[in-house]
Parts: sequence; C-alpha cells; structure tokens
Amino acid sequence: METTSSQRQSNDLAEDKTAAQRYMIRVNGVLHNVKNEDPRMSLAEYLRSILHLCGTKTMCYEGGCGCCIVVLEYDNPAKPEKRIIKSMNSCLFPIGSLLSLKNHQVITIEALGSVKKGLHAIQKRLADYNGSQCGFCTPGFVMQMFGLLKNKPNSSCQDVEDNFDGNVCRCTGYRPILDAMKSFVKNTDTKLGGSFVDIEDLVVCPKIKRPCIRSSLGEIASSTRPAEGTTSMLFSKDSRKWFQPTELPQLYLLMQEYSHEAVRLVNGDTAKGVYKKDGPYQVLIDVKGIPDLYEVTMGPNGLKVFSNVTLSSLIDYLKQYSDQSPSYNVIARHLLKVANGPVRNAGGWAGNLMMKWKHREFESDVFVAFEVAGAKVTVADIAELNTYTPVQFLDVNMKGKVLLCVEIPKLTESEKMNSFKIAPRMQNAHTYVSAGFRVRLKALDNKQLVESISMVYTGINRTFVHALATEKYLQGKDITSNVTLQGALTTLEKEIIPDEDNPLLASAEYRKSLALGLFYKFFLSLLSEGLVSPCNRSAMFALERHISTGKQTFSSRPEEYLLTKPMPKLNAHKQASGEAEFINDLLPLPNELFAMFVLSTEGNATINHIDRTAAMNVPGAVAVLQASDIPGSNTFMPPPYMVEEILSSGPVVYAGQPVALCLADSQRRALEMVEVVKVIYQDQKPPIVTLDEAIEKKSFYPPPGKGLLVGDPAGAISESPCKIEGEVRAGEQYHFHMETQICRCVPTEDGLDVQAASQWLDLAQQAIAGAIGIPAMDINISAKRLGGAYGGKATRANLVACGAAVAATVLCRPVRCIMDLSTNMKAVGKRHSYIFKYKVGFNEDGKLNGIIITYYSDNGCSPNDNEVGESLVFSDNVYKCKNWHLIPIALKTNRAAHTWCRSPGSKPNIFVIETILEHVAKFLSLDPIIVKQKNLYAQGDITPLGFDLPYCSIQDLYSSQIEKVDVAGRLQAIKKFNAEHRWKKKGLAVVPLKYGLYWTQSYYLCTVSIFASDGSVMVSQGGIESGQGLDTKVAQVCAYALGIPVNNVSIKPTTTISSPNSGPTGGSMTSELNCLGVKNCCDILKKRMDPVKDKLPLGTPWKELVAACFKAKVNLTAHDWVWPDPQPKGAPQYNSYGVTVAEAELDVLTGENQINQVDMLFDCGESINPAIDIGQIEGAFVMGMGYWLMEKVIYDPDTGEVLNAGTWDYKPPFSKSIPINFNIELLKNAPNVMGVLRSKASGEPPQCMSCVTLFAVKHAIEAARQDIGKDSYFPLSGPATVDVIQTSCLVDYKHFSI
Ligand SMILES: Cc1cc2nc3c(=O)[nH]c(=O)nc-3n(C[C@H](O)[C@H](O)[C@H](O)COP(=O)(O)OP(=O)(O)OC[C@H]3O[C@@H](n4cnc5c(N)ncnc54)[C@H](O)[C@@H]3O)c2cc1C
Ligand code: FES
Ligand code: FES
Repeated sequence: METTSSQRQSNDLAEDKTAAQRYMIRVNGVLHNVKNEDPRMSLAEYLRSILHLCGTKTMCYEGGCGCCIVVLEYDNPAKPEKRIIKSMNSCLFPIGSLLSLKNHQVITIEALGSVKKGLHAIQKRLADYNGSQCGFCTPGFVMQMFGLLKNKPNSSCQDVEDNFDGNVCRCTGYRPILDAMKSFVKNTDTKLGGSFVDIEDLVVCPKIKRPCIRSSLGEIASSTRPAEGTTSMLFSKDSRKWFQPTELPQLYLLMQEYSHEAVRLVNGDTAKGVYKKDGPYQVLIDVKGIPDLYEVTMGPNGLKVFSNVTLSSLIDYLKQYSDQSPSYNVIARHLLKVANGPVRNAGGWAGNLMMKWKHREFESDVFVAFEVAGAKVTVADIAELNTYTPVQFLDVNMKGKVLLCVEIPKLTESEKMNSFKIAPRMQNAHTYVSAGFRVRLKALDNKQLVESISMVYTGINRTFVHALATEKYLQGKDITSNVTLQGALTTLEKEIIPDEDNPLLASAEYRKSLALGLFYKFFLSLLSEGLVSPCNRSAMFALERHISTGKQTFSSRPEEYLLTKPMPKLNAHKQASGEAEFINDLLPLPNELFAMFVLSTEGNATINHIDRTAAMNVPGAVAVLQASDIPGSNTFMPPPYMVEEILSSGPVVYAGQPVALCLADSQRRALEMVEVVKVIYQDQKPPIVTLDEAIEKKSFYPPPGKGLLVGDPAGAISESPCKIEGEVRAGEQYHFHMETQICRCVPTEDGLDVQAASQWLDLAQQAIAGAIGIPAMDINISAKRLGGAYGGKATRANLVACGAAVAATVLCRPVRCIMDLSTNMKAVGKRHSYIFKYKVGFNEDGKLNGIIITYYSDNGCSPNDNEVGESLVFSDNVYKCKNWHLIPIALKTNRAAHTWCRSPGSKPNIFVIETILEHVAKFLSLDPIIVKQKNLYAQGDITPLGFDLPYCSIQDLYSSQIEKVDVAGRLQAIKKFNAEHRWKKKGLAVVPLKYGLYWTQSYYLCTVSIFASDGSVMVSQGGIESGQGLDTKVAQVCAYALGIPVNNVSIKPTTTISSPNSGPTGGSMTSELNCLGVKNCCDILKKRMDPVKDKLPLGTPWKELVAACFKAKVNLTAHDWVWPDPQPKGAPQYNSYGVTVAEAELDVLTGENQINQVDMLFDCGESINPAIDIGQIEGAFVMGMGYWLMEKVIYDPDTGEVLNAGTWDYKPPFSKSIPINFNIELLKNAPNVMGVLRSKASGEPPQCMSCVTLFAVKHAIEAARQDIGKDSYFPLSGPATVDVIQTSCLVDYKHFSI
C-alpha cells in the first residue's frame, strides 16, 4: 500500500508520540520523560535529583523511616473503573515501575500546598499543633495522612493511630502529631480543637481556591503502557534489561528465555529494603502491567489471590470475606503486623514468600500465616502449573517459574485457628517468633479431642517450621486436661531448638520460652470460659492499647505576650510544606561531587593496601582518596583534642572506621564505588569489643577526673545495719537524627564555603582549617537548620565536614559528603554505655548512710568526648547522703569513639542512683516510693559536690504529685489486678529529678540589627536551630524586648561570619543563652534609641522611631558576647526539679509491654514558650523510653562492627510506643530567679526521668516473680527489651496450667 508523504509524516508523528508516551511518568500533574534514566532509580532519587522536588526527604532507603512517603494513584488493574490511591515509600519504588501503572500520578508534598500558595489543611494543622520540631520527618507524616484521608475520609481516631506505623519522628514524641491528625476525625475530641475537613477540601489550595493538582487524569496517561503486541522491553542499558510484559504468556516466555540469567521480577520492589545486597540482576521484569495477576476470586475452596495483589489489598479482601471463614480475620490481623502501611501498599505476598524461598532464615509472616491456614500456592511456567503447600514450595526449583496464585481455604466448622507475632516493637518490626496454630476438635462426652493440629513457627531456626512431634503427640488427646497441656509442652520443649549463633536474634532461651508461651495462649483459647481459671485467662488476650491521649497543663501570662506565649514555631509551616531546606536539598552546583566513606571491616589491624581499581571503573567515578591525599593534618578533632583520623593512615582502631573516600557524580554511584573498594589488612589482633573485656584487661583512659570522696563512705557502709552491693548496666543509643551526617564544601576565591549540619560551627571551622591547611578566616561555615542532632552533630559532624573539605580542596570542585544510614551507624559513636558497680549502707528505715559507685563508661577508641568525669554532679539526683565515693573510669575499646547524646552523663547517673534506691527498698521490703521520699533533699541542703540548694522544692513536688495522680489508689488497684491476673501484670514507679544546669560551658555571639529603611529586625545568634525551637524563642524575646510584632524579626542562619567563636549547641543552655544575648543586644539598642525616642511624641510608630534614630546617627546594630561567669564553688546556674509517675502493663508470657500512663510534673520556671517546652519535654521523654526499653546496639563479637546498622534491626520508639495516657504539667507560679526571663531549660532534664518507665516495668516483673515465690531483688539494666523483660519474669512452662 502506498502512502502519501503527508500521511507518512502524520503516522510517524503518531508513532513517535506513542513511543514517547511509553516513557512518561506523571508527577503532580506534569508529565516527565524517563526514557534516558535508569528504570531502577528510586522515585525518591528521581524526585529529588532530577525534578528537584526536595520536599520529599530520604534517610534510610529501606522503607523503615517514612520521610520519603508520597501518594500514588493509578487505575486499579483488577477493576479499571476504580482508582487506587496509596501512600508509598518513594525510596523503594523504582521509576520504571510507574510505567506499568495505568493513568498513574505521583503526588508529592509540593502538590498539597506551600507557604506562598497556601497550605493544605493537613500541613497547617500539623504545624499549628506543634507537630514538627526539626521538621525532617514532617512531609512524610503529612503525605501518610493525606493517603489515609483520600482513602477513608471518615477515618476514626483508631485509623489515625494505626496509620503511622511507618513514620519515625525522633523529636516530638508523636503526641502532637497524633493530636493534629486526629483533629480531622469526625466527632473528634473537642479538646483537640480541630474540625473535620471535608475530603474535597483536601485537594484544594486555600489561596488559589482550586485543586493543587488535577485529581482526575482523564485518558492522558492511558498510553503509558505498551500497546498490545509491541515488545515488552522498555530499557536496555549497561547489559541490563527491563521488561514490561502485559500478558501472562509474555511473562512465561521471558522467564523461559532468560532462565539462565539472573532474573528479578519487580512487583513492589520492597524486598530490597530488607536484602539490599541481593543481585546483581541482568534481567528485570516488571510484572505490574499484567492484569491477570491481580485477580481475586472467592470460590467453594476458598479465596484465590493472584500474585500481584499487595499485602494491603489482600488484607482488605480477607476482611471482606471474613464471613466465609474465621481464619480470614486471623490472617488479616497477622498481615497487618507485616512491615508498615506504605510497604504493604506496594509489597505483595508473592514477593514475601519468594524472600523466604531465597533466604531460609527470613522470618516471613506471610509464610507462617499461609502455612497454618493450609494455603496452597501455584507455581507456573510456560509448560505447567503445580500446586504446593508453602513448606513444599521452599524446595521447588524456581528457575524460569513464577508464583501465580495462592488459594486460602476456609476453616471447617470444627476448626479453630490463631496466630501470634512477637516483635521488638509493636509497629513495623520483624518478628522474634511468629506462630500459627490450627486445630480440628471433636467433642466426645465432656472431652475435646484433637483430630488434627498444625503448629507452625518462624524465628526458631532456619529449618524449623512445624512442631511435628507435638502435633503427633496431641493427636487424639483431650485438651481439657492439664496432663495433655503439660505433655504437649514437654514434647514441644524438646523439639524447639533455636539457633544460637546470630547475635541479631533474641536469646535462644527467650525464643524457646516464647514458642511455648504462644502455644499455651492458643491452647487456653480453645477452652470454654468455665474451664480456664480466671487467673490463667489473662494469658489469652493481647495487651489492649487504647487510643492515646494526654493533657498538657501550663500557665502563661497573656499580659506579657510574646513572652510565655505558647505559639507555634516560626518555621513550622515551611517544615510541614517541605519548603524548609536541609543541606541535602540544596541543588547541586555545576561540577559538584558526592563523597562516601569506605569503612573498615576489621576492629584492630593495619591496612596493608587499598585497591581502588574496581571502584574507579564504576560509571561516574571520579576519585578514591586516602589518608596520604589529605593536604593538612589528618584529624577531624583539632588540638587540644586527641587525634581522630579522618581517613586511617594505616592503623585501624575500630570496625567502621573510615579508610577511604569515594567521589562520584551522584550519591548512588559513590555508594556503588564504596561497595567495590578492596581493603587488604594485616596484623589483625583481637579487638576489645565489650565493656567487660575492657574492665578485665584494664583498658582504661587516664583518669578523667579525680572522682569524688565525701566523708567516709567505706566506714559508713560497714557501720550501717543494712548493706547492699550490686551491678547494673545502661547501653548505648544511636542518635537517630533523621538527617544523617552531611556537609557540603564549595571552593571559592575566598577559600571554602561550607554548609555544615553541625552543632558546633567554630569547632568544624578549626578542624577543616587544620585538615586542609588554610587559616580559619578563609573558611565560611553556615548552618540554617539541622534535621535533628541530639549531640551527635557536635564533634562528630567534623568527620563529614573534613571529608568534604579535603575532597573539595584536592579536586577543586564542590563536594557533598553525606553518610547513608548504615555508614552513620557504623562510623559514628553513640551514647556512652555503662557498667555501674555500687555498695551502699543504710538504716532499717531506708535512710542512706554511705554510697560507693564505680562508673565504667565506654569511650570507644578515643577519649575526646568523655562524659564520665563531668557528670558526677548528677550522681546524687535528689537524695541526701553524708558519705559518697564516686569513681569514674573511662574504658578504651575498639568501638567508634562515643559522644554526647541528649542528657549525656545525667541520664545514666540518675538511673543508677534510682536503681540503688529501688534496691534498698527491695532489701528492706519497703515501698520504694516511701524510701525515696525519706531521702529527699530539703531546701538549704548541701550536695556531695558542696553546692547548697537554696530553692530546692523537691519534697513538696514529690508529695503533691503522688497525691495528685492518686498513686496510693492506683497502687491498690494494681495490687488487685496483679492478684487476679497470673499472666498480665502491672507496675507503677516514681522518679524524682534534680538537674543542675550550667551556663559556663558555652558562649555565643549574638547580633541584632534594625534596618533603617523599614524597621524590620535581623538577628544572628551563635546557636543552631535543630528542632528545639531556638529561633522562635529568640525571635519572641527580641520582639518582646523591642516592643514589635514577632513577624518583624528575622532569624538568620548561623554562620562563622556573623557569630565567630561561638560554642556548641547543646546541654539545654543554648536557647537560654542566646535569648539572653539577644535580650542584651535589644537593651543596648533601646538605650541608644531612648534619647531620640524621648524627643518624639508618645506613641510614635516603631518605623518612624527607627528612621529618626538613623537620622540621629544611632548605630542600629548591637552585639553581645554571652559567656556567663561561673557560680560560686562552680555550682550550677540553677537546678530544675520534677517528678514523674509511670504505670506499665506487661504480658508475662511474651515480654510485650506498654506504658499505660505517665504523669510528669516539671519545673520549667516561667516558660518563654510553653508549647515549645512541652514539645521538648515529650520528645525527650519518648527518646528516653526508647533508650530504656527498646534501643539496643548490637556488635559483632569478633570484629566489633555494628551489626544492626539500619531500621530493620534498630528500633527507636514509634507512635504506638508512647505512653497511652501522657500528661505533662509545667509547675505553675515558679519563676526562676536565676534564669533568663525567669525561664528554665527543657531539652534534657526531663529525659532523665524516663527511666521511670523501666522501673514501672520492673515492678510488673516483680509481681510476676512474686507469683512463683521468687520475689528477691534482681537488677534490670537498660535497654530492657521485650526478650530481657520476659526472661526476667522467670517463665517456666511447667507452671502453665488450665
Ligand atoms: C521496612 C520493611 C519491613 C518489613 N517487615 C516485614 C515483616 O514484619 N514481616 C514480613 O514477613 N515481611 C516484612 N517485610 C518484607 C515485605 O513483606 C516484602 O518486602 C514484600 O512483601 C515483598 O513484596 P514485593 O512485591 O515488594 O516483592 P519484590 O521486592 O517486588 O520481589 C521480591 C522477590 O520476589 C520475587 N517475586 C516477586 N513476585 C514474584 C512472582 N509472582 N513470582 C516469582 N517471584 C516473584 C522477585 O523476583 C524478588 O526476588 C518488610 C519489608 C520492609 C521493606
Ligand atoms: S527513606 Fe524511605 S522509608 Fe526511609
Ligand atoms: S520533627 Fe520529627 S524527626 Fe525531627
């Protein structure tokens, strides 16, 4: 057939258009062509690096933190008339996969709203409820909520609480975030002050009064999938192919064709969040474009679900068909505990099972649920279909095959099924042990006989699935008999043989006990109510977590507003809209390079050789730098600190130490280079990895201080009628700042411009100057804000700063050095861990006579950030004793040099003295609350360091708080509860606080300038805004002092140009001292302006006053150098006091626990901004709870490498970890005469009371031990993780009975 030229042209155009549309992805209503990109590139990277939509943040790249969440909408492949709208982790989702989703649309935080165009209701609420501190996590929370409301406009409070199982916030303690989100719920608690927002409002920009994005896409993107019959290969690059089949036969053919290559099917692609190093794969086949694989049918044999169905959809289908079989609800409940919402929205059951197939040790919850339910999976290839049980499937040769579908049968009437998952954290955590049980019973006479039973476990060892011997034993047995129960348990005990060789797993003892306990729970649940003793019934039910709530009580002085005004943070709106810029959001400059550290894998060795060849072959590689490339001194800690090498010059002192720096044109490629650098070691020696080893080998740093000897403690103890000795420990804590360590250095004609995420710019400047050998004056450092810090970016930020500076200098190019999460966790030290050994003498009434405590603190491989010598000021907490000996010993180990972490020294020191008081009480069989009360300081008492306590109010606070929160009544109720429940226990504890605050350890330069042109005011100060609300408080003080509105004040980024020589931000004093400095500047300015003012009519507007002053040649800029003089005898500037009561509930069989209530009374003086201070208090307290109950750093026992360097194994608190009822009261009418504007600090002191949660849990454990007559004292160290807690309960299956 002939065609005219014009016809041909138009046909060509149409084809071109179709071809182009195949590669179009739609983001916020705009189409983008991704043909030239790597289809494996994560959506997050594409959004940030290519589209420069940096409101979406990234941190973990493993689906574990939620800051990268976006919402994705697309046509439901199973029901094209319906749209799917889900939140997703953009860090895991590959851009290539978008091309398979018909009419897809990615919605990012930018589409919701902005400060300029108008905020979205969610953004505004979150900001106005003080739900952001550093703001790094905030866009992720907004998007997750947006996803919820788009799907379920009528969400309940429960939906809101369940919704945030994938979002970490390290700053806020979650309460204000949850409150903000609950304010969208219809019939919300009026206390939350919110109002329900119609879903239509959710897509409308309030300013432009129309939807921010087009929510209906019409057919524009309909051709983003290949037309039928066209090739399904979409990308072929670097010998890798990416296919996009649209029909099953195409998939089978591809599987056959490439059966000899490394093939990966791409569905949710979330598995790489768990197994990052799988691959490499030459062939990637995106299966999402195959409609047949989304099919779900309910038939007579059960529910048949094809393999593209995501976990979220599967859960929905199971709930939809739950009337068909009770097991469907059980499976749905179990699957809801898999990962988190965004991962379940993308990830499918098939991918999960394949992970188990590939990695037998993988604790797959899908596997457990399917196996126990009797599900059958179908495996298919081009030739045949075969059906297997999940267990059989593990041994199928999957070469060239796909998982096609699963059929989940219905339970028969006589069957019962249940499943359990016990994990280190309630949300988003892999299991320690999961178990599923299904039994068929037959009633005969008064008996219940087992006809068949299936008992399935994961988390025991690589191969253990069915408890076959126990299943066999139970056959035909009567379950109403204790003999059957004990017989089954004895058999089970023998056949459960947990692995012991993996330090990442909970102890074998725990997992075995758990396996038995879970079976016991199931066994009891089979029996009718009358058969189980009321006490034992408590085994059956999971802990009930109600909707969390809390009260924040404070007073303020409206007559003095702006001072004491509980106003939101100035930048909160920008944080909630994603417009607040962090360093990694800065657009790359022309020629900019990305740097990543190569870390040592040995803990004590010498580097023989570093082979860079493979790294330099990575596309985009530019250089691999070593120690010899450093132009100046190879240390990131300037004198007088001890040397800590930027890159090892040979000696390796810990596993995780940087040994080389890879530079490439993108972060991903720099990481790829790191993977292939080969480091050859020699002279390997056994490293000192544990504190015990260091003590045994006397591996000590020179004494960090003299210690403290007051009176004659040894004599006092020996003469005391009662004495105890003990040991207790406190572990490490990873700071978990959501913005990992980062710095960008740009060579300029002036030297070097540096953007550093540092709490201490002056030190970073000194370190860089030394490392590149130029004077400090040529280095200009600035910091606008930090995405969390908590002490981890004080001295440790120098490492990335020096790395970037060295590379920028050597290569004469801008360099951004960022640590990925794993590098951050391995290379950088954490909170110091401790072993405390103590001896105490006391009277029969509990009065203390003499105390000797040795503090062994692990400093890691450098003594630089030692804290143990300086923290003795906290050792007494609130307790009076005449004789003390406090001995600080800093241990030298082959671990990263540890550093300050929020409440350094104080938190562990207060814990040990509280432990001592609890120990004394137990020894005397007295109530610890009374014993503590007996020993409290009174006003005018003298502390061991010789400081008097002129304003000490702790006795009053203590008694009023325990009365106010009805401790006596609640203890009675707890006693009753514990007597009635054998397997659930409650406990209550009280921890008081005295916290000495020093002002002498820091110094800042503050400047206030008034612009003559319009009277607006610019402030620069020496502290760094890191979420603590510093900028807002400073602006409030400035505005108040000058008598102008707060929006007339602008707080500028902190720089070494405007605030040189300023000290570190930390120790809770930064806000106060900078407020003081700014207030002093304002006083200077006012003094200069007053003569002019006096000549003007009363009430002359500020702007005119300023203009008149300028004309009168008044200098409108004032500086203040704040460095207060020490108090007499080196005493603290003032003490903060507080009392916290906590109540815990515990599942004795599993160790799971929850904090039912916390009531804190805290003396914050007259808070400058109570909303900010309460935020600080709650955030600090929850971080403390994480430390005492959850967060554990696990080291390789041979090398000392951190093994749990990621969100999969390291578990900070999530939104359901917080106290269910969380009440904070700021002491009223308590002006601090020694403070700035009568205020007191809030950042660190309250965290020291967080150990109250551990003690509350401990009392619950004691109640469990009482039941078996083992109620003697035992130490409970932190972190008391669920496994430790359960083991402390001394659970013995022989005590299990009906
Ligand atoms: C943060 C996080 C937390 C998690 N927590 C849990 C947890 O608590 N419990 C738990 O059990 N799991 C957990 N997981 C695992 C999660 O359930 C899986 O990542 C997810 O189900 C995998 O599905 P996917 O579609 O993303 O698979 P993909 O990542 O797309 O694929 C995974 C593997 O399966 C193969 N595959 C995919 N589809 C098929 C098919 N149809 N036929 C053959 N092969 C196929 C792929 O080739 C690939 O090898 C977690 C994961 C993350 C990221
Ligand atoms: S960066 Fe995506 S979940 Fe952490
Ligand atoms: S505000 Fe959530 S991590 Fe800082």
